[in-house]
Parts: sequence; structure tokens; C-alpha cells
Amino acid sequence: MPRRAIGWRILTVVAALLVLKVTVVVVMGYVNYLPANFNSDFLRGRESYFYEGYHCAFYLHIAFGPIALILGMLLVNEPFRRRFPRWHRLLGRIQVAGVLLLVAPSGLVMAYYAAAGPAAAVGFALLALLTATTIALGWRAAVQRRFADHRRWMWRNFLLLSSAVVLRVLGGLATVLVLDAGWFDAMAGWASWLVPLAVFELANRGKLGERKLPGAVRQVSGVSVATHNGA
Ligand code: HEM
Repeated sequence: MPRRAIGWRILTVVAALLVLKVTVVVVMGYVNYLPANFNSDFLRGRESYFYEGYHCAFYLHIAFGPIALILGMLLVNEPFRRRFPRWHRLLGRIQVAGVLLLVAPSGLVMAYYAAAGPAAAVGFALLALLTATTIALGWRAAVQRRFADHRRWMWRNFLLLSSAVVLRVLGGLATVLVLDAGWFDAMAGWASWLVPLAVFELANRGKLGERKLPGAVRQVSGVSVATHNGA
């Protein structure tokens, strides 16, 4: 196996483990949400508006957020799609519905109340809109059998969902560095999705016709020439 491929594989495994680990830690924190503990880090100061609608968005968000993250990881996994094309299709539909109807709208509502203030709120709102847009475009591309485009949009969507992981890694970093500034939280909110997305776009820029994503299809004049077996 070429060294680049080995490097890519190691990176993929490390990233997958990080996503899993952060997801488990996030879900373990739910002891503070069921029932709502207003002395916990996230819910402190939210008591005045929590039961005025925020709780609906919040509980939908925390219920499907981790599921969307894990499903996203599975769905962009090339060997999984090749081996289980029917599962890829079924889970893909669940993912599209869950992200469009639950994660993105609830994130948009919660953005309005972002703890780090208006700058963070705008960043989260934009993240919610982009998350919904990318999955809708990825879905449309799949239906139209434009599989190279489908793959690119779904990678973008997964990176946007993974902002939840990056944000918590940055939060951990801030704790280690004893950074307690409001600006850091707002900046982290933006950086958590802008940076991965920018890296992705730069890595893929001007490379049409080449192999870009792991196991990507080749595009010749915008036409997918490799198959998306059964999906
Ligand atoms: C990509 C779309 C997403 C958007 C727009 C979004 C938006 C938000 C917003 C605005 C908040 C409240 C932040 C604050 O008030 O400071 C929040 C909290 C939360 N989000 Fe998301 N989120 C998204 C994806 C996810 C995913 C994929 C997960 C899965 C782990 C997730 C899990 C959570 C949890 C558990 C909280 C409560 C705080 C905590 O326990 O850390 N979110 N989200």
C-alpha cells in the first residue's frame, strides 16, 4: 500500500476514534439534562426561558445530534457503502430526514440563545443553514445519480456535523490553557466548522477528474465514471 494511503488510513482511524470518544462524553453529560440541572455548565442561567419552548428544540437536538454524527461517519465510509449498499440507502434517508427536520432547525432555534453572545449566535445560525443546505444538495445529487457531487456534498455535511466534535476539542484546549475569555467561545464556534470546511475546499480545489476523497469516483467532464454500487 502506498505511504500516502497508509497515512490517510491512520488519519481516518484517529478521526473516527475522536468522533466516537467525544460523542460518548457528550452523551454521558446528559445526566445534567434529564432532568434539567440548572447548575450544570450548559444550563446555568437558562432557567428563565428553558420551559418557554427552548426545551423542545434542546431535547430534539441532543437526541438526534449524536445519532446524526455517528450515521454521518458511517455514511461517508466507503467500505461500508460498498459492502452494505442497501443499509447506506436506508441510513442515508434517515440521516436526511433527521438533519433537515431535527438537528438543523433545533440548532437554529438554539443559536438565538447562544451562551457566547450575538457573534456566536450568527455563526451557529449560519452553521444550521449550511448543514441543511448541504444535506439537501447531497440528497438531490444522489437522486439524480450524480454520485461524485453527492459524495462531495455529504462530506461537507459530515464536516459541518463534526463541528460539534471540533468545538468540544477546542473547549478542552481552552480549559488546559486556562483561557476564560468570552471571545474564545465565539471564535471557537466559527472556527469549528469554517476551518474544516476551508481545508476540505482547498484540498479539492481544481482537482476535478482526480481521485480526491477516499474511494472517490472519477469525474470526466462532470460525468461520474466509477459506479456507486447499488446506491
Ligand atoms: C451542525 C449542526 C448543529 C448546529 C447548528 C448546532 C447548534 C447548537 C447550538 C446553537 C447549541 C447551543 C450553544 C450555546 O448556547 O452556546 C448546541 C448545543 C448542543 N449541541 Fe449542537 N449543533 C449542531 C450539531 C450537533 C451535533 C452533530 C451534536 C452531536 C453531538 C450536537 C450536540 C449538542 C449538544 C449535546 C448540545 C448541548 C450542550 C452540550 O451538552 O455540550 N450538536 N448546538
